Amino acid sequence: MEVLDALRSRRSVRRFTKQPIPQSLLQEILSVAPWVPNHHVSQPWRFIVITGDSLTLLADLRAQAVLKKRQGQATAQERSDKAREEFKTVGAVIAVVQKVDAEPTRREEDYAAMAMATYNIMLAAWDRGIGSYWNTGPLVQDSAVHDWLGLNSDERPIAFLRMGYPDTIPVTRRTPIEERLEWRT
Ligand SMILES: Cc1cc2nc3c(=O)[nH]c(=O)nc-3n(C[C@H](O)[C@H](O)[C@H](O)COP(=O)(O)O)c2cc1C
Repeated sequence: MEVLDALRSRRSVRRFTKQPIPQSLLQEILSVAPWVPNHHVSQPWRFIVITGDSLTLLADLRAQAVLKKRQGQATAQERSDKAREEFKTVGAVIAVVQKVDAEPTRREEDYAAMAMATYNIMLAAWDRGIGSYWNTGPLVQDSAVHDWLGLNSDERPIAFLRMGYPDTIPVTRRTPIEERLEWRT
């Protein structure tokens, strides 16, 4: 796929078929993640690929995190069950983990590079027929999830990328760039 075609056509895919993604394909997709602009080439990332039985464990943790967050709400159990169900069609979840620099400017620049690395994964996946979407949600903040991932105290997850073969590709809109563009010549 041409780069411009990939950039224009990619969508956040949230509904997947149950077809598993070969590990070799995930490996190929992930191999492009580091090839982004990255000040000081700090490479602040690591990626944890969750598939198979580990997805079931993560789904349980997600359901618990939703229950905790919605404690006391009438729909808490329903939402928690739905959160668990969602993982049944996902082919893989990639936890994108940032090493958090103590210095604020470095931290911000690192986050920019993290976002680009994440987008590289999403675009590479799209090129190979795999849909994905960037999810933050309750997993990002949950200490039980951090423990399960084995994060160090200076690490934080910035995304739990859902990956899978697309079942439905959503339609989305953007304001034409002409409305947000100024030329000074
Ligand atoms: C930092 C970040 C966090 C996001 N978190 C979520 C999320 O928690 N849940 C979700 O459904 N989508 C999430 N998204 C995806 C956006 O909703 C999606 O990109 C947007 O709707 C535009 O759709 P498109 O990617 O198909 O163009 C997130 C995107 C970014 C960049």
